[in-house]
Amino acid sequence: MTAATTAASTAAPAASPSADAPKVLLDVNGIEVIYNHVILVLKGVSLQVPEGKIVALLGANGAGKTTTLRAISNLLKGERGDVTKGHIQYRGQRIERLSPAELVKRGVVQVMEGRHCFAHLTIEENLLTGAYTRSMSRGDTTAALERVYQYFPRLKQRRASQSGYTSGGEQQMTAIGRALMANPNMILLDEPSMGLAPQIVEEIFEIVRDLNQRERVSFLLAEQNTNIALRYADYGYILENGRVMMDGAALDLAQNEDVKEFYLGISSGERKSFRDNKFYRRRKRWLA
Ligand SMILES: Nc1ncnc2c1ncn2[C@@H]1O[C@H](COP(=O)(O)OP(=O)(O)OP(=O)(O)O)[C@@H](O)[C@H]1O
Ligand SMILES: [Mg+2]
Repeated sequence: MTAATTAASTAAPAASPSADAPKVLLDVNGIEVIYNHVILVLKGVSLQVPEGKIVALLGANGAGKTTTLRAISNLLKGERGDVTKGHIQYRGQRIERLSPAELVKRGVVQVMEGRHCFAHLTIEENLLTGAYTRSMSRGDTTAALERVYQYFPRLKQRRASQSGYTSGGEQQMTAIGRALMANPNMILLDEPSMGLAPQIVEEIFEIVRDLNQRERVSFLLAEQNTNIALRYADYGYILENGRVMMDGAALDLAQNEDVKEFYLGISSGERKSFRDNKFYRRRKRWLA
């Protein structure tokens, strides 16, 4: 036995994943996505969501966050997009060929960017549309609705209002509530903060945390708002130009100088000069 294998075997409990380490729920491995057969958007993206965690997918406009979520939930076809390399596993099983409805049955639900409520339906009717995909009994549907109202008391108050006339925050809550109706294990949440006032954003992230802690729903959330996402997530990936530029524990990312500078708008110490070539190139790389 070599020294290395001896060391590995004596250190077995630490080296092997410990019994309390959360299982990987979602495993995205080196995916490439092409739109319209020619536009290469994701260039080998890998990420993992452990069971029971909140993982943030960060990055500027056009970095590829939505495309990554669409690839996972199989919503690319409608956009003329294809996963051309890599694979995606959920609970250890390949999911690339499942329809979005089959994925919902397995417990994976996406809340799309821009909220997408049915404007002419009431809040409650919108929520009920989330139950159909799982063909629930009437009793289960009522229980699911009550659970949504418990997390979103605002929606209960406004249950009879037509969604088109409710506020942006209420529409985002309706969209998340509808996903919750399908009793998911994992929610893919695309840009929940978009266009909302800071206080409402905070309220929504608090509910996300509650759902995570009390219902053990795992989240993969795409956000441009790095600040709030890193405050609520356990782990983060930063996408740029279709590639993961950096990943790490949320607390570490929030302390990272590059992240502070380019994503959180906080610069420590004296301002750097653009004549500093190394810095300039690094900045170009970050903002490209
Ligand atoms: N249906 C499509 N057809 C062609 N190109 C697309 C399509 N959807 C997105 N793209 C391109 O793919 C790239 C990544 O877009 P994506 O929407 O995934 O970014 P994003 O990170 O979600 O950005 P945002 O923060 O603005 O939502 C962009 O350059 C975009 O123009
Ligand atoms: Mg997007």
